[in-house]
Amino acid sequence: MYDGGKILAGLAIFVLIFTFPFWYNIGNAAYQRPKLEKPKEKNCVESVEFMRADHMQLLNEWRDEYVREHITTYKSHLTGKKIRISLTKTCLKCHPNRDKFCDKCHASLAVSPYCWDCHVTPKGDSNEK
Ligand code: HEC
Ligand code: HEC
Ligand code: HEC
Repeated sequence: MYDGGKILAGLAIFVLIFTFPFWYNIGNAAYQRPKLEKPKEKNCVESVEFMRADHMQLLNEWRDEYVREHITTYKSHLTGKKIRISLTKTCLKCHPNRDKFCDKCHASLAVSPYCWDCHVTPKGDSNEK
């Protein structure tokens, strides 16, 4: 039969190896972190360290919960506050300029999420040009 533990361990190792270039580069002094637009607010949805490393997983969870389970709020582990699940109305409310925040970082790491094919950006939507 399947050995869940072994599969999980194997998967974890695979993920680590697969994503190694990303986090290695992020921690590397030679990698020039781009200057990002600073939000006015004090806190993100979770800690900055968590967001830096895991915002893509968080967004995936948000999308699945919202679309499949009709869950519309998320409780922050950082502040304990309930946060509305929305890419445009939550993330981009605090980080309104996509070019100066999300995409500035993504471009420096050669990542280009396809979310904007459908989701609206308040400012800095390169697609509009
Ligand atoms: C209430 C305002 C607020 C909301 C909502 C918010 N953020 Fe943030 N975000 C911040 C603040 C403040 C920081 C910390 C900035 C700093 O210290 O440089 C931050 C930091 C980040 C960082 C790390 C940036 C870096 O300097 O490495 C990422 C990535 C990020 N946010 C993505 C998101 C995403 C994705 C969402 C939606 C799921 C989101 N944020 C929602 C305010 C917010
Ligand atoms: C500090 C740098 C940084 C900032 C700021 C940032 N991202 Fe990211 N983002 C990344 C990295 C690195 C990846 C790729 C991670 C990977 O593939 O392992 C990524 C991946 C993603 C992905 C998954 C894309 C894919 O193809 O798998 C989404 C969605 C995403 N980011 C959304 C956002 C949004 C929305 C914002 C702005 C609110 C944002 N990101 C801001 C660094 C950042
Ligand atoms: C083909 C179009 C399309 C693409 C591409 C797309 N989405 Fe969505 N997304 C939707 C639709 C439609 C909804 C449901 C909106 C509603 O019911 O209000 C949704 C809902 C969501 C929600 C919850 C509700 C909200 O207002 O944000 C999140 C979070 C989300 N998507 C994240 C993402 C992320 C992250 C990406 C990129 C990795 C992405 N989506 C790409 C169409 C898309």
